[in-house]
Amino acid sequence: MNRRFEPSGPLRGTLVPPADKSISHRAALLAAMADEPVTVTNYLRSNDTLSTLAAVRALGAAVEERPDGDLVIRGVGLRTPAAVSGGMLDVGNAGTLIRLLPGWLAGQPGGEWTLTGDESIRRRPMGRVAEPLRLMGAEVETDGGTAPLRVRGAELRGIDYDLPVASAQVKSCVLIAGLLAQGSTRVREPIRSRDHTERILCRARVPFERDGLSLAVSQVDELELDTVAVPGDPSSAAFHIAAACIVPGSRIVIEHLDLNWTRNAFVRIAQRMGAVIVGDLEDPDAPLPDREPIGELDVAAAPLVATTVEPDEVPLAIDELPLVGLLGCFAEGDTIVRGAGELRHKESDRIAGVVEGLRGLGADIEATEDGFVVHGDGGLRGGAFEARGDHRLAMLGAVAGLASREGVEVIGMEAASVSYPGFEADLATLLR
Ligand code: S3P
Repeated sequence: MNRRFEPSGPLRGTLVPPADKSISHRAALLAAMADEPVTVTNYLRSNDTLSTLAAVRALGAAVEERPDGDLVIRGVGLRTPAAVSGGMLDVGNAGTLIRLLPGWLAGQPGGEWTLTGDESIRRRPMGRVAEPLRLMGAEVETDGGTAPLRVRGAELRGIDYDLPVASAQVKSCVLIAGLLAQGSTRVREPIRSRDHTERILCRARVPFERDGLSLAVSQVDELELDTVAVPGDPSSAAFHIAAACIVPGSRIVIEHLDLNWTRNAFVRIAQRMGAVIVGDLEDPDAPLPDREPIGELDVAAAPLVATTVEPDEVPLAIDELPLVGLLGCFAEGDTIVRGAGELRHKESDRIAGVVEGLRGLGADIEATEDGFVVHGDGGLRGGAFEARGDHRLAMLGAVAGLASREGVEVIGMEAASVSYPGFEADLATLLR
């Protein structure tokens, strides 16, 4: 499906973004591991998070959709009966699902599952979750480092593990396996990454320690989780925020947004570039709370200057880095993103997708091994933009169109439904 996005006037108005994808995945998975029913409010209905509901149902959990939109998930408990073992679990395009779920399955002695997904999932690295789970005692096989992933559960033992990549998905997988492992399990991150799993585990009364970049959980009998309230997704909101930063005269308010410090580095980067964004972002040094901070951001367009994104900021803005490239096209000077080699392993190679895509629209941008350099501010001419089956690239192309001189035709706009099925409708409300 191709869609044209014409140069637009200012964005105006208030928007409640869709529910957070990362937190929705975690809410469904951890609810499925609980003994008592868990109510999840504002669960995201997108292709990715529907894959997670299908997976937990296949594992024996009951998912009830209430008329008010809440979900009530009746889980099977942390130790699933072997009766639900076996078979193939298809995660579709959901990277978070295929990386977190093996943490739970690995701790089910006698259970055996195969996890696979679409063509993009089958290209993404899975050795990073297989390795720690094997060290804990499970049998995990990959197909040369990628899915299908075969998991044979075992009695797990706790490990002390230094993550070789800064990945919230891998961290979460090990922490979840740690709930089932004898003793305690410690994970050390090289750089801080999103902390939603930690917060939900605290809420589920799991003994949890955080000391700088080092995190530890202990084996538990059960998860005591009652409700999870999912806030608005900063990564989805970032498309509207970026549009408001680069379309002159824009002023928008984003409501009911997750203001978690580990998810809002894009806002801090845009502020550094000169965008006027006001809101109560969380304090990075606050003790780990058991919930997500929810609030609003007020965004106004302003002249932008270039910035450099250094490696320690990368995991905190990983899904928004394509938008930093777009902002860079409209900023005076050279915008540089470094230490972001992980972008090559997302739903598509996002370094190639951003650089080739924006260059096709007239940007002066080049790829580096682990990022890109954009020479702004020639703005963007416009043209055709290939989404490459990647939701975040599809929405990047749309926003580029609004700020371009001649408009952008996005090829493959349907990919947006992976995280944000209502994207075009929401954008339209800000353009009225
Ligand atoms: C996610 C973590 C990030 C991010 C992905 C969602 C999560 O991936 O890119 O969209 O929910 O934990 P990595 O952990 O691979 O960096």
